Amino acid sequence: MAEAIVPEGIKKAAGSGEVPVLLSRVNDISEKRLVTTLGEWDRVLGGGLVPGSLVLVGGAPGIGKSTLLLQVAHLLSSRYGKILYVTGEESASQTRLRARRLGAEEGEIYLLAETNIEGVLLQIERLQPVVVMVDSIQTMLLPDIQAAPGSVSQVREGAARFLRLAKDGGPAVILVGHVTKEGFLAGPKVLEHLVDCVLYLEGERYQAYRILRSVKNRFGSTNEIGVFEMTGSGLQEVTNPSAMLMAERPAGVAGSSVVACLEGTRPLLLEIQALVSKTTFGNPRRLATGIDFNRALLLAAVLEKRAGLPLGGYDIYLNVAGGIAINEPAADLGICLAIASGLKDRPLESRTLVLGEVGLAGEVRAVTQLERRVEEAARLGFNRFIIPAGNRGGLKGQSGCEIYKVSTINEALRLALVNTGSGAGDNTLSNPFYKYS
Ligand code: TYD
Ligand code: MG
Repeated sequence: MAEAIVPEGIKKAAGSGEVPVLLSRVNDISEKRLVTTLGEWDRVLGGGLVPGSLVLVGGAPGIGKSTLLLQVAHLLSSRYGKILYVTGEESASQTRLRARRLGAEEGEIYLLAETNIEGVLLQIERLQPVVVMVDSIQTMLLPDIQAAPGSVSQVREGAARFLRLAKDGGPAVILVGHVTKEGFLAGPKVLEHLVDCVLYLEGERYQAYRILRSVKNRFGSTNEIGVFEMTGSGLQEVTNPSAMLMAERPAGVAGSSVVACLEGTRPLLLEIQALVSKTTFGNPRRLATGIDFNRALLLAAVLEKRAGLPLGGYDIYLNVAGGIAINEPAADLGICLAIASGLKDRPLESRTLVLGEVGLAGEVRAVTQLERRVEEAARLGFNRFIIPAGNRGGLKGQSGCEIYKVSTINEALRLALVNTGSGAGDNTLSNPFYKYS
């Protein structure tokens, strides 16, 4: 009976000779991870680079991928020995110049300026490195494939070769892949299913902060980010990003609010800035950096319709300070208040944290992990919290903190904008909403 359901092909195949292994006896790779002193890098990988794994580091050109990898190469080589850095984009001497700037010249880092994958594999065979870095997969070429380097088939087949190498007991392989602003050309996207980890290095090119985000990780959580700052001597890790982002915040300026976004497991305080000025010519302009443009349009429409703000005659420019992108709705209310504050030219009280998703009816909806966000802000001296009424289960009353629960943007607007004297009735003190202290 049992034989009858085994398909023909399987019966014939001898297989690879692998035998079933008890789950609890399978080799535990977690102890063998390759770690650096760059804690943020290790953390994003889930605790270090796993030997024999294939990692893809994606990011826009010029964002700092080569810089990061060279630093990592340096740190790894000082502990584990030979690292092979294959450079298909820059010459070996250019790479050396960069290494000098990074103070990463010493150690067993071998450079190979080669784009032919067959040649690269040959050199790996001879050198036996612990880790191979390929910068970038788009410059690599398999001669038997009739397509240009960077094309989908070249990139996919090339990566598959490195995958086989890594899985056959070879070195860990880190591939660099370029991502364009518009999206993904032949590159990272076609490789995501193939590799073990996908990390993206993000940020605005002309701003200092870089976020390394894990979007896929077979050996750890995808909830981690690492924050770096690009300096004259490479990427420096930022261990307390919120404090750093808040440090440069101007006090008492209209059109600014602070939200707490969850970047992975870590709450990050971000300042949202809105410049709202009268439209002088033609259609009102809207511009958003770090905030999804359509989300910004939607929120402006909600403010206009539900809160009666005359935004139709104003240009709105939105920005997230520090060049970090917000991609969760918990920042909605913060964006709304920044716009309203900019329009009315009335600042929010400076140590106010605003949280809440905004719906089309102007309602404020609950956000996830409220406590964590509030804690992070309280740690940095924030003492006034405007949060969704829908978040049940109260906050542990931080002493000296004012917590306001709102269920509509109108309530939030009345609460948030500091009364400068003229708008009687807007004052928070006369506000009937919940207040705990
Ligand atoms: P790079 O690593 O070449 O980017 P990618 O490999 O992602 O294309 O980074 C290039 C940018 O980083 C370049 O604009 C110069 C800047 N940079 C620094 O600011 N400090 C440094 O120490 C280095 C090496 C580069
Ligand atoms: Mg590069």
